[in-house]
Amino acid sequence: MPKVEVVPLGASYDCRDDETLLAGALREGRYLRYGCRHGGCGTCRILLVEGDVEQSGSTFALTASDRADGWVLACASVPVEDCVIDVSATDLTAEEFLAGDQVRGYTAEIAEIRRLTPDVRGVRLRLLDPPSMRFTAGQFVNVEVPGTSVLRAYSMANPPSDSGHADLVVRLLPGGAFSALLEDRLAPGDRLRLYGPFGQLKVRLSHRPMIMAAGGSGLAPILSMVGDLADQQNRRQVTVFFGARSAADLYHLDRLRALQDRMPCLEIVPALSERAPAGWAGETGLVTDVIGRRFPQLEGYDAYLCGPPAMIDAATGLLTARGVRLRNIYFDAFVPTG
Ligand code: FES
Repeated sequence: MPKVEVVPLGASYDCRDDETLLAGALREGRYLRYGCRHGGCGTCRILLVEGDVEQSGSTFALTASDRADGWVLACASVPVEDCVIDVSATDLTAEEFLAGDQVRGYTAEIAEIRRLTPDVRGVRLRLLDPPSMRFTAGQFVNVEVPGTSVLRAYSMANPPSDSGHADLVVRLLPGGAFSALLEDRLAPGDRLRLYGPFGQLKVRLSHRPMIMAAGGSGLAPILSMVGDLADQQNRRQVTVFFGARSAADLYHLDRLRALQDRMPCLEIVPALSERAPAGWAGETGLVTDVIGRRFPQLEGYDAYLCGPPAMIDAATGLLTARGVRLRNIYFDAFVPTG
């Protein structure tokens, strides 16, 4: 049974054979930060200081160079010998580690299911028990697929001030564990179990102007963050790029535009990568190309990116080439999970 020493907390726990670093800690009543639990979100990224693990998980939550530098995903790493892990990067305190998993479960009722695009649904959940959730804009919840123990992660699109609801943006995937059920069987009034909130994505305090770029269902956390900025009477310049294939794939532009009334420093740039309808007044091309055309230099900016890994990869390359410091780029990769 491999022993795991946790620095800088001066604590340790045991992992059973074939148990991940995260699963072992939780089973022993300890806590490590986590989110999706399937290698997709990067929330559980920690440094392996000593020992060896077998790793799985998406390569985007952890790049090849991260792995070479010793980073591992606690939810996707099974120790094969005694290990030392460094959790400094997750800001975990000894008290949190010892207190065990404090993530709460919620019972919610489906208040509304809205067709946002041909393959995206907006699901408004009303929290029943407990009736509200404290979260920061940019976080997500795990939704339990009814009748199973399968969890699917969805970001809140509503701001934290609307604490009695969780507005989710669900992409329909063929055979998707949750999305197929949503399309075929779930209806307003049905109840769901949620767990959370999770995730480290949030707007960082600074005076720098912000670029936000969303692709696909990645608009949800951006919308929550912009809504929260409006609630805080933000004066920093914010430019939101929303990339979609066609005009039919754009959604929630009405919500973004309503926020402009409360936050005049907000600019919204929808961009279509495939077909632009006659009379289209927005941008065309990949969202990265559009950012590049609009901003020849971006020194002194913060950037928030939410969308498919390929978009985040391309945008990070462009932004750093235009002067954004890597440490001022924050992202949430949306890895499709069926
Ligand atoms: Fe490990 Fe999401 S919890 S990658």
